[in-house]
Amino acid sequence: LPPKEEIKRNLESGLPILIYDFDGREEEVDMMFYAGTVTWKSINLLRKDAGGLICYVTGNNEAKKLGITFMTEIVKEKYPPLYKKPPYGDEPAFALWVNHISTRTGINDEDRAKTISELHKTISMIKTREDEARNKFYTEFYAPGHVPILISRGLKNRKGHTELSTSLLEYIGLERSGVIAEMLGDGKSLSKEKAILYAKNNGFLFIEGKEIVLEVIK
Ligand code: 5RP
Ligand code: CA
Ligand code: ZN
Repeated sequence: LPPKEEIKRNLESGLPILIYDFDGREEEVDMMFYAGTVTWKSINLLRKDAGGLICYVTGNNEAKKLGITFMTEIVKEKYPPLYKKPPYGDEPAFALWVNHISTRTGINDEDRAKTISELHKTISMIKTREDEARNKFYTEFYAPGHVPILISRGLKNRKGHTELSTSLLEYIGLERSGVIAEMLGDGKSLSKEKAILYAKNNGFLFIEGKEIVLEVIK
């Protein structure tokens, strides 16, 4: 793993980091930004250079404090036949999809950046002003919207990009509040090799899930 300071410097200055999960899991590379730095330009890069689903990620404690549960809980209750697991085995990390009330349609780069920035502000308030954070969430957002919220189950329980990205943020001392999207190629997900080359050409850090696991689960 690159030094903590280097990872932090990159993320805090608004640069993305690329994270490969594991051989035998999705074998995908996600582009991640720290949600505290997101602007429409970050969403534009996620959309054009990554291309996958642009999701907001946070921790399980934060989600609990806001009263957000996993979509799987809702599916189990309302649509039991639809409750199945994807081929690589994990339960999805998806929870609600939201928009901030100040957005218009919710999808363009500015709108998604706004929804994500406001989610970040909400999550950042939890530690010191829990009631205010909860109140902000329920008054300023509506669902369904255009930004899926993913909730981490912790690296010990699940090893997806959701857990890898939130654990990395926590490890370097930032809020568990990020934005991720899969890097896609032509027809398939972008190969790890191509993602490494892309990282090199653009001066972005490329990190593997196994490096995060080694440092974080000690
Ligand atoms: C949402 C996904 C992606 O795979 C994303 O990387 C987060 O999920 P996971 O934690 O399962 O890797 O499913 O686009
Ligand atoms: Ca997934
Ligand atoms: Zn993933």
